[in-house]
Amino acid sequence: MPDRPIPLYDLVISPAAKRRVRDVLQSGWISSGPVVDELETTLSMSLDLAHVAAVSSATAGLELALRACGIGRGDEVIAPALTFVATVEAIRRTGATPVLVDVNPDTWTICPEEVGRAVTDSTRAILSVDYAGMPADYSELRRLARQHRLRIIADASHAIGALWNDKSLVHAVDVAVFSLHATKNLTAGEGGVVASRQPRLINAVRILARHGMTTTAHQRRRGAGAYDIPEAGLKANLSDLLAALALGQLERFSTDQNNRRRLVERYRMGLAAQARPIIMQAATPHALSGDHLMVVRLVDARRAQRDRVRERLRGEGIETGLHYRPVHTFGAYRPLAHDRLRHTALLADQFITLPLYSGLSGRAVDRVVASLGRAYERYCPAGHHRSS
Ligand SMILES: Cc1ncc(COP(=O)(O)O)c(C=O)c1O
Repeated sequence: MPDRPIPLYDLVISPAAKRRVRDVLQSGWISSGPVVDELETTLSMSLDLAHVAAVSSATAGLELALRACGIGRGDEVIAPALTFVATVEAIRRTGATPVLVDVNPDTWTICPEEVGRAVTDSTRAILSVDYAGMPADYSELRRLARQHRLRIIADASHAIGALWNDKSLVHAVDVAVFSLHATKNLTAGEGGVVASRQPRLINAVRILARHGMTTTAHQRRRGAGAYDIPEAGLKANLSDLLAALALGQLERFSTDQNNRRRLVERYRMGLAAQARPIIMQAATPHALSGDHLMVVRLVDARRAQRDRVRERLRGEGIETGLHYRPVHTFGAYRPLAHDRLRHTALLADQFITLPLYSGLSGRAVDRVVASLGRAYERYCPAGHHRSS
């Protein structure tokens, strides 16, 4: 009998989530209202008492976070080139100029030395990315931010379960933005969470996310007066329907997160036992990964060899992914390219994202590791050593 296919990602919607969504459907109020409020309060507790605004996506949340920090036209924001395009798109949408820098070749997160080199008189913020769930090197980034009076905004789309110094990474930065997209460790289907220790920033995000209106429709229904729009915003509120899904899923979040941790450990042991040059992400100091993506690097591979390995795995029923094609290689972002993005270019050619989700079995991990090892032997014979 052929082996069962192993998808890159799978999702289980808990009975609690289904029940909560049904309750909202029956309540007569499905847009932003009391369930969004409840989600924000619950997440505030999970994020070590940060202030929290739930929004329609992390992409919108990043734009709102930047704007709440006063960033706009004439400002520069430094971000890693190795990220999903949304990170850089959000900077563009504020009118600010994105400045791309390279990543650290071991942790795959933004390289602090390169950030230091990229700072100019116009730089206002660092937009770090907690790649695959691993917090960026916040000890170094905070030192740079103090030195140059910069804000740090975290694109923590992958990192809702991550820790920095034993707390949510919200506490390392000015604002952190998490994604509740369908593939993320905690999902609302679509959605985002903006979190900060600074209530003023979250209040600004909340108002900007509803066109700049000073009261919500739900508050007005309950007697709040007319609203003003002191500053034009955008439409980026989360609905109660989606918040209900996230609240229900939260009940299984720590179990899911523990399962992911166990599976990543199994990958680590399996890959170590193979003793091939296939390596995993290194940890940054004081950080615990949120274990969102299981990315490995085929150290000796060229892009065509990596693609053949992926093709082979697909033939054996194993789905894989690529995270990410670097931002500056897309047409719209080509003007941001420069010649100090060496690690980003190399890593992007050598990465493969392997299956990782809470319901994945340990045996499936063993099968992926064995298939990967065989494909590596076949398509990446030693001798193509490219320096890292
Ligand atoms: C690094 C990163 N940033 C931003 C986003 C955008 O998240 P959303 O789909 O919630 O807007 C994603 C989504 O996959 C992401 O991976």
